[in-house]
Amino acid sequence: MSNPVNSKKRGRINVVLNHKQDDRLSQKDSLFSTDQEKEEHDILTRFEKKLEDYVGLEEVKRLVNEIYAWLYINQRREEMGLRASKQVLHMIFKGNPGTGKTTVARIIANFLHEMGILSKGHFMEVERADLVGEYIGHTAQKTRDVLKKASGGVLFIDEAYSLARGGEKDFGKEAIDTLVKAMEDHQHDFVLILAGYSKEMEYFLSLNPGLPSRFPISIDFPNYTTEQLMEMVRRMLREREYELTKDGEFHIKEHIRKIRQEQERTFSNGRYIRNIIEEAIRMQAVRLLKENRFDKEALLTMRREDFNFNSSHVKLN
Ligand SMILES: Nc1ncnc2c1ncn2[C@@H]1O[C@H](COP(=O)(O)OP(=O)(O)OP(=O)(O)O)[C@@H](O)[C@H]1O
Ligand SMILES: [Mg+2]
Repeated sequence: MSNPVNSKKRGRINVVLNHKQDDRLSQKDSLFSTDQEKEEHDILTRFEKKLEDYVGLEEVKRLVNEIYAWLYINQRREEMGLRASKQVLHMIFKGNPGTGKTTVARIIANFLHEMGILSKGHFMEVERADLVGEYIGHTAQKTRDVLKKASGGVLFIDEAYSLARGGEKDFGKEAIDTLVKAMEDHQHDFVLILAGYSKEMEYFLSLNPGLPSRFPISIDFPNYTTEQLMEMVRRMLREREYELTKDGEFHIKEHIRKIRQEQERTFSNGRYIRNIIEEAIRMQAVRLLKENRFDKEALLTMRREDFNFNSSHVKLN
């Protein structure tokens, strides 16, 4: 087993690896430490790298490790003639707007595909209107059509609690029943992720006692801290090849601190940061045209006045 191979065979990950005994548990962030190990476990290494581009998201990083380890050990168990277990991977994502739910669901769809769990790994995002119809029977048909399209991938239902909006008589209930049936029907090869605000999601699950146990994986997406949001500012600017002045950095930080306090619930976290960066890029462009300055230093530099929050068009939520 000196030549490890990771390949997908008939929808299942097939891994052969070297024997090595060391203290893996002491590795807090990554399961593997040496370059050789990282290469052997290239799928995990690639996804760890991808997730490193994002600030925080510790729970997600841990889940990806867990799923990888489970499938890997399953493979090793099979090699030893032991039983390999199946697991339900439907998930609930709870968190405020812009906390990374959709971004993470896309990454997970890709990951599960590469791990051979999902045959296609595409991502389909729907909301109430895509599932709920206008007359009896219409909803079940609409939901089944969506399920068909989602087959082999991740079906992501945003603001899932809106399915329970109208109570018992509402067609939303029919959509839920159709989804539950599909989840039980093993022919359906898909992972369902329900997403939305924490409180509403919890209420929704409490109204449907059969539901929570069908979603064994629940991930919280907390609001980002001021420091995490500032880290996003830095990364987004670096990516776009801009440099922020110290004064500019201080100015943004003060603003973020203030709006985090005022808009705790609806403030759109990462999306807000992306939007203020994009607005600042336009503001800087206008300033440079006015100043008639096109040297490299000027083109690179993002200044305090490029972030004019008083006249900003960016919505907070
Ligand atoms: N951890 C992060 N690191 C860097 N950028 C992030 C992070 N989380 C979110 N973002 C940025 O914020 C934007 C919004 O994220 P996303 O659409 O995944 O949020 P969401 O939770 O699905 O929001 P909503 O509930 O409103 O649909 C993304 O385009 C991304 O650029
Ligand atoms: Mg989203």
